[in-house]
Amino acid sequence: MKHTLSFSRIVLSATLIGAGFSSAFADETIRDLAKERGRFIGTILNSEWFNDAIEPEFEEIHKTQFNVVVAENEMKFDATEPSENKFNYTKGDKMVEYAQANGLRVRGHALAWHSQVASWVSNYSGQKEKLLSVLKNHIDSVVGHWKGKVAEWDVVNEAVNDEYDAGWRSTNSVWYEGIGPEFLDSAFVWAHAADPDAELCYNDYSLEWGLREKSKASFVVEQVKRWKENGIPITCVGTQTHIEISHETTPQNVRALAKALAELGVTLNITELDIGFPKGSADQLGADDYAKQGHLYRQFMDVFLEEPNMGEFVIWGLTDAHSWLDDQQGKTQGLLYDKQYKPKPAFDSIMVSLKAHPASEVKSPYPESLFNPEAIKSSAKSTKLSMNLVGRTLSIAGATAARIDVFDIQGRPAFSARNVKGSVELQGVSKGLYVVRMQEGPKSLMQKITIK
Ligand code: G3I
Repeated sequence: MKHTLSFSRIVLSATLIGAGFSSAFADETIRDLAKERGRFIGTILNSEWFNDAIEPEFEEIHKTQFNVVVAENEMKFDATEPSENKFNYTKGDKMVEYAQANGLRVRGHALAWHSQVASWVSNYSGQKEKLLSVLKNHIDSVVGHWKGKVAEWDVVNEAVNDEYDAGWRSTNSVWYEGIGPEFLDSAFVWAHAADPDAELCYNDYSLEWGLREKSKASFVVEQVKRWKENGIPITCVGTQTHIEISHETTPQNVRALAKALAELGVTLNITELDIGFPKGSADQLGADDYAKQGHLYRQFMDVFLEEPNMGEFVIWGLTDAHSWLDDQQGKTQGLLYDKQYKPKPAFDSIMVSLKAHPASEVKSPYPESLFNPEAIKSSAKSTKLSMNLVGRTLSIAGATAARIDVFDIQGRPAFSARNVKGSVELQGVSKGLYVVRMQEGPKSLMQKITIK
């Protein structure tokens, strides 16, 4: 009751203050409370930021209030490989440098997506081997360029269709139409080989509509189960969660999805949240509307903090002054800050939720070292994994009971063994080039091998 009373008083004060919004939390930040709880809360850098065409308040608020960042467009295929095998990392580097200078985690968005693919790729429509080579080269190059700097990738984005009987998105996708669904498996294996320490996500929208039979969310959970059984190195799912103010059932649907993925040992991240009002309604919105928006934001934050396998809470924009909602989505006013960069009641709602969940009660899916640099030094002393192949005998070091998985270059599993000590014979694996993954707990090592 205590929190509820303070929550309503805060919201009332925030919405009734004169011409603009103001927060009741002047000397605390979302960032500090997120870090104390072992979580990442953040938002995108809009394309205007990359083009130095945004107000100075944007960056000041962004680096003060948040501890995770993702590029709205600048790490997508068309931005990073505009011409075949000609890469442009300038804008992505600008974000990585900003993130490193300000202690922000970086999400990479997105490697394999049917949209915003560079136009030259369509020259190879239907050519399976060429498209596999193009996608592998893209992933090797982009993930390799930011190895150790991008903590997590949306490896595949929006590959499930929008039908009620969910299945793969089989049209208007150069990857699916040219390669088939195996492009997803291969993308994850290649991304892991390029940066074994990066978290690897499958990201999609409408996953917040519930785990009913044949729903998109249920289809994704089935795929994650299959991938895990086949040794495909997925570690997270991203629920974009672009919703409207009337979508009141969605927070509990996200909780159910988190619980389903927890059983598979996979993290769930909210990756693109916005809670919009109908386009054109901005002038009619009043205190009650913004309080309702805040209440829905709070429910998502409550779910996020209470589910132990949720790691990142990313909002798809900082200010209503720069939001895809108005330009492309037929919605408006969906973010935490208004067009004058004033915090809306939704900002206070998130703060109230954070304070209502003490750090001692919030579990983190991440190692403590991510939030406490001092701990990094001690963890660095842990013995490193290593592998050596002689003939078909794979010798391992740095682990007492490792899992070994061998994949061909298309990412198809070729061999697997658990509780390996010392060495293992790679029986039944034909001659050729492979990728071996060695895992023990949080430690993982990928290595290319040739079986002669
Ligand atoms: O860069 C060009 C510029 O040169 C040109 O003058 C201008 C006018 O046409 O267009 C600019 O490109 C725009 C690009 O954003 C960069 O601003 C594209 O037209 C526009 O379509 C593109 O929209 C982005 C959209 O993805 C494309 O699908 C939005 O900013 C971005 O917020 C949105 O983000 C997606 C996520 O990646 C995936 N999940 C859904 C989410 C919302 O659609």
